[in-house]
Amino acid sequence: MTRVQLERLTIRGLNLDAGGNSFAQDVAEGLTSTPKTLPPKYFYDGLGSRLFEAICRLPEYYLTRSEAEILTTNSDEIAASVEGPVRLIEFGSGNSEKTRCLIEAFLRRQKQLHYVPVDISWSSLERSSRELLRDYPGLTVTAYAMEYYAALARLSEGEARPAARNVALFLGSNIGNFDEEESRAFLRGVRTMLDDGGALLLGADLKKSTGVLLPAYDDALGVTAAFNLNILGRINRELGGEFNLKTFEHRAAYNDRLSRIEMRLMSRIRQVVPIRALSVDIAFEEGETIHTENSYKFDLDQLAGIAKNSGFSLTRSWFDESNWFSFNFLAARRLD
Ligand code: TRP
Repeated sequence: MTRVQLERLTIRGLNLDAGGNSFAQDVAEGLTSTPKTLPPKYFYDGLGSRLFEAICRLPEYYLTRSEAEILTTNSDEIAASVEGPVRLIEFGSGNSEKTRCLIEAFLRRQKQLHYVPVDISWSSLERSSRELLRDYPGLTVTAYAMEYYAALARLSEGEARPAARNVALFLGSNIGNFDEEESRAFLRGVRTMLDDGGALLLGADLKKSTGVLLPAYDDALGVTAAFNLNILGRINRELGGEFNLKTFEHRAAYNDRLSRIEMRLMSRIRQVVPIRALSVDIAFEEGETIHTENSYKFDLDQLAGIAKNSGFSLTRSWFDESNWFSFNFLAARRLD
């Protein structure tokens, strides 16, 4: 456990992005199962985090712009929905770019704000925390560079009851990357951490035509393909893998029955790829795929159901002009 402390900044976590040694184990497990899989949290090394930031600027990736539109238009109303003072805890904060609107809105209501970003990428956290502290003198930051559950455990225990009300923030398509079971477990964990009167502010992408959805996950410039392929590059860099990235291809497909985008990497040829640190050779058939991520798309009934099943009530939703994205207020229900 590493701890870096400056006057208004504390970063807690492991200095290795994504927690080091479990990477080897998870890669070995994922690539020897049928069908092959890799856990999406390993996308976000230094390069991967930068590539994801580039995705967020693509014309095809409407998610970031739609959510930013909702936040800019409604930030004061959103901030006013919670009785303050507030402590803001964000899971999967990335570069915290969209969060700025909310931070500013809370700082219009209270002089000081304690912001607690949680992200798997130490490098993103460190960079964004310093930028935020420079821009907002009223802010203090305690950053957790670790997985959600590790941060939840530390946030739920240990610390003395904060004077402020906890508000959790889960933006972008984060909730969409969980399946039903995972999102219930995670949201219940968040609910347990919040006090009665707390809330979860939840971004969620909405169902829409594949004409809009598919390009968002397979852009013309090829940034999404590079982002997906980078996970193989990371295996090469960190585990002595011998993936020739040119022999793999990014694939995005919409699964209508499950209303989710499915991301895969497909081997263009039949081949065997050694991974030295794992002492394994991974065999691929021509056309065989590695499943890397799902991105679920929701409607409001589903979101209300998810809220209900995890100790919340969906009390309010905001939308962008095109109705492509939703931002939802989940009030913590009394736990009895
Ligand atoms: N959480 C993002 C999403 O579901 C991640 C993402 C965007 C992604 N494009 C991708 C993951 C391509 C894998 C491949 O929208």
